[in-house]
Amino acid sequence: MKPKRMLITSALPYANGPLHIGHLVEYVQTDIYVRFLKSKGIKAVYVCADDTHGTPIELNAKKLGVSPEELIAKYYDEHKKDFDDFHINFDSFYSTNSEENRKFADHIFNTLKQKGLIYQKDIELTYCEHCKRFLPDRFVKGTCPKCGKEDQYGDVCEHCNATYKPIDLIDPYCVVCKNSPSRKISNHYFFKLSDFSADLKKWILGNKNLQQEMKNFVINWIDSGLEDWNISRDGPYFGFKIPGEENKYYYVWLDAPIGYIASTENYCKMHGNKESVDDYWKSKDCEIAHFIGKDIVYFHFLFWPAVLMASGFNLPSNIVVHGFLTVKKEKMSKSRGALLSAREYLDLLDPEYLRFYYASALTHKINDVDLDFDDFSDKANNEFVANIANFCYRVLSFINKNFDSKLGKLPKDEELIVELNSKAKEIEKYYEAIEIRDALKQILAYSSIGNKYFQDNAPWKQIKEGEVGKEKAHKVVTLAANIVKNISVIAAPILPNFCARIQKQLGLSDLQWKDIGFDLEQQSINEAEIVVHKIDDIKKILDGNKFPLDLRVAKIDIVQDHPSADKLFVLQIDLGDEKRQLVAGLRDFYKKEQLEGKKVVIVANLKPVKLRGYESQGMLLAAEKMIDGKELVTVLEAKKSKPGDQVIIEGYKPNKEQVLYDDFAKVVFEIKDGHVYTKGKMLKTVKEAIHADIEDGAMVR
Ligand code: MSP
Ligand code: ZN
Repeated sequence: MKPKRMLITSALPYANGPLHIGHLVEYVQTDIYVRFLKSKGIKAVYVCADDTHGTPIELNAKKLGVSPEELIAKYYDEHKKDFDDFHINFDSFYSTNSEENRKFADHIFNTLKQKGLIYQKDIELTYCEHCKRFLPDRFVKGTCPKCGKEDQYGDVCEHCNATYKPIDLIDPYCVVCKNSPSRKISNHYFFKLSDFSADLKKWILGNKNLQQEMKNFVINWIDSGLEDWNISRDGPYFGFKIPGEENKYYYVWLDAPIGYIASTENYCKMHGNKESVDDYWKSKDCEIAHFIGKDIVYFHFLFWPAVLMASGFNLPSNIVVHGFLTVKKEKMSKSRGALLSAREYLDLLDPEYLRFYYASALTHKINDVDLDFDDFSDKANNEFVANIANFCYRVLSFINKNFDSKLGKLPKDEELIVELNSKAKEIEKYYEAIEIRDALKQILAYSSIGNKYFQDNAPWKQIKEGEVGKEKAHKVVTLAANIVKNISVIAAPILPNFCARIQKQLGLSDLQWKDIGFDLEQQSINEAEIVVHKIDDIKKILDGNKFPLDLRVAKIDIVQDHPSADKLFVLQIDLGDEKRQLVAGLRDFYKKEQLEGKKVVIVANLKPVKLRGYESQGMLLAAEKMIDGKELVTVLEAKKSKPGDQVIIEGYKPNKEQVLYDDFAKVVFEIKDGHVYTKGKMLKTVKEAIHADIEDGAMVR
């Protein structure tokens, strides 16, 4: 029995940066499922929002010199556009920084407090005297107390996986200002999560929809003892102030999932308040399903259900957890630079190739999705285009050409129809079970049957065999057109744009699951059109996004005069995992001591050349400008970075192959406000922007 309503959510993306194609795994998965439910005639409402609060957003806004509100508004617009362009069909895409969300957050907080589920206590936290702020886990680094590895975050060591508190770090430093923090006592609000162990366990064990893997995992956590949850943060913070407090805010993870409720209210408002939040969050007639990534399981299986239980809202009846996108098996992460943003992808390729590719990899399990662009291109070309799209075009254009765009009568081919109908049933089962990979496999099989039917009957031969042959051919193509129609329904959750256009060519629109069947005959169709093309050369397309130079940070160890060229220095540099020699024309502008120890930017993939007898294995970048007839030169610097660090140009991959000086000369750099830009992007490392101490308009050479 299906419920009267379903509310489906995807996790709320942080409004602190662009979406990347890793995020899209989840939104594509959820969108496919919701589109399927809607096609089945189920009242499914898909809500989401931007997650706008927290320290990273507050600090990022400060760094960019804008207000947090301005920053989140910019990302709201970008995210919305990205989602639209990937055909992610939210019924409401809202914001956690909304009045609705404040209302529900306050309501829930007050309810928990009244029920005695919130208490206050003093705790000792890491505090930066210089920045005048408490430092969250990710803003303190130091040496791991367990294994001694340097430069680890305040919550977990990436080297030995030990977890600890920021105050446990050895030689901690503030990520923002690099000073060493002190400790400070602060009073905080705690939610009694520990009170919910038994109820949570009962709920998880009694839920038939949850993935078994997840259940085991979460039960383990509960059994090892739950700790109460700190739901407050000290200012400066961007978020909702706690009622009655001067400088304390709700922790972002308290109000973020409440954003699901706020977005539901926004949906109800958008539809004239014919339904209310209670119809979704307090009624027996509604089922709630959350789709999330494996990194946020703790919040969704423990904190959130406990908060819902305590405040009288319904619990989700399903939480679907997916794995991470890896690119050729390397985890894609925001901090690593080498990732394609949603927009960069859209600038290069059709969004439905990616939807198709993700669909081909998505199961109901928590395994990662590996993106291999060769495989991506093969699937797009051999499956989507060759099997599905070509079949549709072939059938419809054949009817255009040979039957004046008119369908004939359906043949009595019971066997084929029975086979196809049972396949459609199978596909339906897979969608229902959120086994999208298997659904797609069977869609391809469905299309293959259509291809084989068309090929075996060879209507192009039949039409040459007199009236009888022509009549036979007309029946064959009419049945084939029905197969095309059915494909446009069964594939629509995955390929909504392609399928809508096929339906348009058939003279139809908005077909639903119930329209699958064999009933189209003796009517006209429209002009067939090729909707999707093969990908020509995926490498070339992606290379279009390659930056020709490999720019990296190097530390200058030793500077010597070139013995026979009075403008040149010979430098010994440290590139992290290697040492190199460079020859640079800086002698008129720097003393040796001024250069020694400096962290500069070099082109690391220049073919080595000999300059007046000395090999230069790369080139140091400097900015120059004529001022009052005098030439000023300053080297580009990266003071806080490490030797070997990659200089990042957002959206571009550094070229690791050797280039010649001429290739370098074609790259245009610009200096503005002491920063360096190319292709409109600021040069930076993971730690900082590259710095050039010179006026705007200087040339980089
Ligand atoms: N703001 C929180 C979620 C709050 S939900 C009340 C958050 N945001 S996020 O932007 O970091 O991630 C949003 C979703 O995208 C999460 O479910 C996350 O798991 C998913 N993904 C982010 N990067 C991903 C990949 N590289 N691969 C697959 N999913 C990824 O977490
Ligand atoms: Zn600081």
